[in-house]
Amino acid sequence: MTTLDKSFVTNGVWKEDIFKGKVVFVTGGAGTICRVQVEAMVLLGADAVIVGRNVDKTIKAAKEIEELRPGAKVLGVGNVDVRDVQSIAKAVQESVEKLGRIDFVIAGAAGNFLSDFNHLSSNAFKSVVSIDLLGSFNTIKACFDQLRKNKGAIIFISATLHYYGVPFQSHVGAAKAGVDALSNALAVELGPLGIRVNVIAPGAIDGTEGFSRLAPPGTTPMHEKVPVQRLGQTKDIAEATVYLFSPAASYVTGTIQVVDGGLWHVGNFMGSLYPSVVKQQNEDPEVKL
Ligand code: COA
Repeated sequence: MTTLDKSFVTNGVWKEDIFKGKVVFVTGGAGTICRVQVEAMVLLGADAVIVGRNVDKTIKAAKEIEELRPGAKVLGVGNVDVRDVQSIAKAVQESVEKLGRIDFVIAGAAGNFLSDFNHLSSNAFKSVVSIDLLGSFNTIKACFDQLRKNKGAIIFISATLHYYGVPFQSHVGAAKAGVDALSNALAVELGPLGIRVNVIAPGAIDGTEGFSRLAPPGTTPMHEKVPVQRLGQTKDIAEATVYLFSPAASYVTGTIQVVDGGLWHVGNFMGSLYPSVVKQQNEDPEVKL
């Protein structure tokens, strides 16, 4: 089921055909956040490609999104692992054959789990850095020819947890800090080619896998900690996406758009989880390599 519907256009602030004739390519496009970004783009006139590892989930999501707008084309390409640049290149080739072009890219595929340092193996660290950081690089690499031909735009999906220390997230924090650095460098390097590069850093977004894993049960309700006093919705990320890809943002590149209701300014939101569980690492005789 889609999160957005036609009311996003009829009651929204955006012109209904601002992305007419454009194509957006999205990794992780069947996931909770990126899927709604795609829905918004499609409702506002774009065609889309979503790629993911899971074939059935990706194709099902593509079909559902396609139904949002008569005439929309949404291609679902499964069996794509962003750690393998050739597998994304193949998906890009299929996309261009079927949809003609790629104008916008969302590098959204991510891997996450909570692990204390003692139990985070070298391979586990490498897995997350490979999906989040190398995967983002590979995505842009595979789309680069289309992006330079069409003077396109890129959005990387990052996070805010590397702005301060979040326990059990050393792997993700390191990967996302790398994503931000990659985005900044590419914004400067690709600006003269007409390509804009920005980051969206979502905060606590309700209903996402990341949020349900990170929010410890039994602590102060998260919305009370957020300065705007509510949890984020996937639609909030979709609205930021539309802005950053729209002509309204034609002078905006190299930025990190935090969409978190001000939460990161309040500091580490994991509250009472720290430091009791961290201390238990001292009692475990084994270190997982
Ligand atoms: N705690 C500690 N280590 C973990 C772990 C956990 N919860 N989950 C996986 N790992 C470790 C594995 O033990 C393995 O390390 P080892 O070989 O030293 O034992 C390593 O991570 C790789 O695991 P594997 O399952 O082989 O990797 P994968 O490439 O199939 O999966 C992950 C990648 C680990 C990121 C997996 O969680 C995933 O696919 N996530 C995608 C969905 C997701 O995370 N979405 C959230 C987005 S915010």
